Amino acid sequence: MSEFEPKITAFVCNWCTYAGADLTGTSRIKYATNVRAIRLPCTGRIDFMLVLKAFAQGADGVIISGCHPGDCHYTAGNYHARRRWVLFRSLLGFVGVDTRRIKFAWVSAAEGAKWADLVNETVAEIRQLGPFKQYQELLALRHQPIEVA
Ligand code: FES
Repeated sequence: MSEFEPKITAFVCNWCTYAGADLTGTSRIKYATNVRAIRLPCTGRIDFMLVLKAFAQGADGVIISGCHPGDCHYTAGNYHARRRWVLFRSLLGFVGVDTRRIKFAWVSAAEGAKWADLVNETVAEIRQLGPFKQYQELLALRHQPIEVA
């Protein structure tokens, strides 16, 4: 039987983390290939419903990453993202999502090695948690007709 390979969706800002991930590649640092990166202009642009949509589409884990505090190219987008993340995290239990499946991190354009570590650690943790089908099953239940006796 083959080992479970987690599917990770990463929402990354264009200016820092995406460039950092690019540096990982140009530096030839090896890391897990389980991540599909979605590049956004800034973490402030991330609608956290996108995170739920990623799980609905089959992601087992999500990474959200952008510029370090004080380095956002749009001044305060990452501060807005961090505030929204704190609120969103407190609601995840209600929709059946284990918060350990989502990593929020700062990775700059100069931190290719940090990006590789973040991805490798996330993949290892999600592998321990196993596949995440519960959210998809919950959504499927919502769309089933209710039988009345
Ligand atoms: Fe990177 Fe705002 S531009 S977090």
